[in-house]
Amino acid sequence: MSRIVVTGGTGYIGSHTVVELIQSGFDITIIDNLSNSEIEVLSGIERITGVRPDFENIDCTDYMNLDKMLEKYTDIEGIIHFAASKSVGESVQNPLLYYHNNISSLINLLELMPKHNIRHIVFSSSCTVYGQPDHMPVNENAPIKPALSPYGNTKQICEEIIRDTIHATPQINATILRYFNPIGAHPTALIGELPNGIPNNLLPFITQTAAGLRSELRVFGNDYDTPDGSCIRDYIYVVDLAKAHVAALQHMLAGKKNGQLDYYNLGTGRGLSVLEILDMFQKVNDVKVPYKIVERREGDIEQVWADSSKANKELNWKADTPLEDILRSCWQWELHLKERREQAQAQ
Ligand code: UFG
Repeated sequence: MSRIVVTGGTGYIGSHTVVELIQSGFDITIIDNLSNSEIEVLSGIERITGVRPDFENIDCTDYMNLDKMLEKYTDIEGIIHFAASKSVGESVQNPLLYYHNNISSLINLLELMPKHNIRHIVFSSSCTVYGQPDHMPVNENAPIKPALSPYGNTKQICEEIIRDTIHATPQINATILRYFNPIGAHPTALIGELPNGIPNNLLPFITQTAAGLRSELRVFGNDYDTPDGSCIRDYIYVVDLAKAHVAALQHMLAGKKNGQLDYYNLGTGRGLSVLEILDMFQKVNDVKVPYKIVERREGDIEQVWADSSKANKELNWKADTPLEDILRSCWQWELHLKERREQAQAQ
């Protein structure tokens, strides 16, 4: 069996990916400093898969401890690197935190890979690197636009660091995955997104409003140049996204070449507006979400959706979960969280 190290493996996308990796037969070691996740996620993973992955509470910016930890294992074939700070607004307030966390953790991993004979890395990037693309759907050859936030800039810089490192150190192979908008939770409702405080992203805000935790959703702008005036995004189911990581890893492990660097867009190819998502969420779950239209949010791009045909072909992967099922999973997860809160209160 081969071992995969998953940094940020107790986080939202990380935990769903760990489940898919275990179910595909990989041994997993999670590295996470729990700065934006909870240790209980391991129990959720265990209940779904029957396996509790190895866990190391390490901050990836801590070179010495990372080195010591990697020394313990001799069977690591690859790393999937999720661990990063990810709030656009926070990155504007505290850019150095973002440059420090996101960039030094990647540099540490890339430095340690040859030392520990680890050949493959999968990196979490974002469609944010394209800014507002000139042509839609956007494919991997679209130009990289100036970043709109320090967070977005860290993704661009990290991509460049990987490219230059592979060029200089061809014993490493890398796959850069550019995510569109991940949403939803595992169908068991045992793992999902755990937003910290007031959610920034659309779906957690919708579900919290439906659950009565927020009084109303604010829809940021209805005067965009789109059919209903609200912004358009490509919402991809987190489980489909997780499966893409397994496919990307298997593709790398099967590859014969060294110094391979691939980029893939991960989306559905379908763009939906904020108002369309909101409408569909209410219909499939039979719940009400009060909302009002407010000013545009600074830094939002108008519309973006993916051309993922490269991943479809080369990774033999497709995001094909029906949107209705995805939106049901969002609501089931919120209900699960509600139950957890009630149980905690009763104790
Ligand atoms: N939106 C609302 N109200 C809310 C939250 C969001 O109307 O309360 C709208 C946004 O304006 C946007 C859409 O819902 O039109 C999606 O917003 P999200 O915040 O969920 O997602 P973004 O597309 O803004 O963000 C995503 C990733 C970021 C990444 C960014 C780059 O979550 O990591 O794309 O554009 F940086």
